[in-house]
Amino acid sequence: MSTFRDGLLAGKTAFVAGGTSGINLGIAIRFAQLGARVAVVGRDPAKSQAAAASIGSHALGLAADVRDCAAIRSALEQAAGELGPLDIVVSGAAGNFVAPALRMSANGFRTVIDIDLNGTFNVFRGCHDLLVRPGASLIAISAGQAVNPITMQAHVCAAKAGINQLVRVLAMEWGPDIRVNGISPGPIGGTEGMSRLAPGAPPDGGIQEWIALKRWGRIEEVAESAVFLSSPAASYVTGIILDCDGGSQLGDATRRDPTQGVKS
Ligand code: HXC
Repeated sequence: MSTFRDGLLAGKTAFVAGGTSGINLGIAIRFAQLGARVAVVGRDPAKSQAAAASIGSHALGLAADVRDCAAIRSALEQAAGELGPLDIVVSGAAGNFVAPALRMSANGFRTVIDIDLNGTFNVFRGCHDLLVRPGASLIAISAGQAVNPITMQAHVCAAKAGINQLVRVLAMEWGPDIRVNGISPGPIGGTEGMSRLAPGAPPDGGIQEWIALKRWGRIEEVAESAVFLSSPAASYVTGIILDCDGGSQLGDATRRDPTQGVKS
């Protein structure tokens, strides 16, 4: 799949927090394929180096925990110093475990809020004076749990709902020079999130009758949404949460027997 022209992001610098694996690494790879200079940031220095190497020789792998405001600021400064002022910043670091609220300690709940919501604030607040203006694009990675409550996900639901509102407020405060948007991926194959939420499912999820598009998504499809939001095609788009989810947030799209309920 290739939907955007080569060189679309040439000369741009992108910083991807949480970019050492999964959806965020896929986004970083796609940005690099389209010509951007890319920094990826994760907690583990070895994983960050390996991720950067997998992206290409010009990628920068940095270690910082998004919960640590000073560390993330220093990573942002290093990226801007070595690669140039930041055109695109993605905040995608996320934590998750499956547990009912009564089995969550205060620290367990706080940990996910800290990584997802406070982490996104730290990344976006920390990058503000390092951005290219006008034209910078900030993207937060949200999830359907922000809107649709799911049992065993109290922490993620609360954190992602907060992210959606943070995106909207920053879009209002930081326009017109900076655009702030979110992406809400649906179930995406090959991610740690889905391996926790649907253990035992095939890597691509197989056929999913309940989803309008009948399947899980691919990491590359979420990456294309990130490219769109970072491109001139989205120059009048800010404050949105783009659902890249095959229609999964619409509800159960199972096709039922059309004769059911019809009087003979
Ligand atoms: C109950 C748990 C737990 C579990 C951890 N905790 N796992 N509580 N059930 N299964 C509690 C711990 O007991 C501890 O509380 C607190 O959480 C912090 O745990 P630590 O291991 O000390 O913290 P840390 O090393 O920072 O790890 C945090 C983590 C991490 C979030 C739990 O393991 C992690 O990030 N895992 C998943 C990563 C992941 O899946 N990423 C993708 C997310 S995608 P106490 O009280 O004992 O100190 C996503 C979107 C999904 O979220 C959308 C799909 C459609």
